[in-house]
Amino acid sequence: MPNPYISGTGFYLPPRIVTNDELSTYMDTSDEWIQERTGIKERHYVEKGEGPSDIAIPATKQALNAAGLKVSDIDFIIFATSTPDFYAPGSGCLLQEKMGFNEIGALDIRVQCSGFIYGLSIAEQYIRTGTFKNILLIGAEVQSTAMDLTNAGRDTAIIFGDGAGAAIISATDEDRGVLSTHMHSEGKYLKELWLESPASNAGYPRINKEALDEGKQFLKMNGKEVFRHAVTRFPEVINEALEANNLTSENIDLLIPHQANLRITQMVQKRLSLRNEQVFSNIHKYGNTTAATIPIALAEAFNEGKIKDGDLLVLAAFGSGFTWASAIMKW
Ligand SMILES: CC(C)(COP(=O)(O)OP(=O)(O)OC[C@H]1O[C@@H](n2cnc3c(N)ncnc32)[C@H](O)[C@@H]1OP(=O)(O)O)[C@@H](O)C(=O)NCCC(=O)NCCS
Repeated sequence: MPNPYISGTGFYLPPRIVTNDELSTYMDTSDEWIQERTGIKERHYVEKGEGPSDIAIPATKQALNAAGLKVSDIDFIIFATSTPDFYAPGSGCLLQEKMGFNEIGALDIRVQCSGFIYGLSIAEQYIRTGTFKNILLIGAEVQSTAMDLTNAGRDTAIIFGDGAGAAIISATDEDRGVLSTHMHSEGKYLKELWLESPASNAGYPRINKEALDEGKQFLKMNGKEVFRHAVTRFPEVINEALEANNLTSENIDLLIPHQANLRITQMVQKRLSLRNEQVFSNIHKYGNTTAATIPIALAEAFNEGKIKDGDLLVLAAFGSGFTWASAIMKW
């Protein structure tokens, strides 16, 4: 049976940088408050007219280049985003058209912060069964347009940013690649981190002035509750992956956690007794880009020489749903 491995990675951040000081001009907050609570210094926002499928293009080109593959070599597209360009059709179809992929399947998945790992698990199955040889897996988000940049939304708006990451999942006969993936959900907490409108259950029409006046088009978060669950679920799902492979946290060469918040990452590191060099963090530069944080971090860590052949890599995510997931792989 072929093994699924990551043959190339890429990432892209839109050029516009939004600093904490800039946010402080829209709402009562400060650089000090944001850095102390989240570790974030700045994030990137797209310009009007740009969606996840647009910012996914440069990330995809880099990933293809790194893998030494052409657009025509890709057999399937998996596009993880919680902020699709349109309600319908999915961003995967848009990317297929914009980049001129063959008439291959394009699957959008909406699992928020866990999207990349859920996508990886789908790619894993198609590669192991021999169905596909090269799969493009994207995590791309435009969160900026779902932020309430006033005092009412300041607890959430300071956290999120836009960005895209891409990975090519390819088949190999070598002893490397994804060892296992693990996924969970707990829908009873859906309202702790959610975006309510537009909603097909909202009556006719789906979007109305009342909903807009209530700010239902903005992402809403109960920060304390999200924090509480995240610091439990991250270690749990990482240990699940380690145990499934008879490994311990000492075996981890690099943990790439979803970049939710620096304080969450630090707490996870402590709970698993990991050294600083075992944990990757870049949230200070990009904020939380939801499904894009892991592929961006993966590409950046690889480009910085922090991932070498044979390394044991663990990916882990927690977010809206709630959903949480992990993946373990030999690079
Ligand atoms: C969002 C988060 C930073 C808020 O920090 P917190 O310490 O829980 O802050 P609280 O919500 O208790 O608010 C404390 C005070 O700061 C205020 N506050 C909220 N946002 C603020 C901001 N951006 N700037 C300044 N003050 C702010 C609150 O209004 C509150 O004021 P009050 O005491 O007068 O009522 C924190 O809960 C968190 O990091 N949660 C996890 C979020 C996350 O990781 N999400 C992504 C998951 S994928």
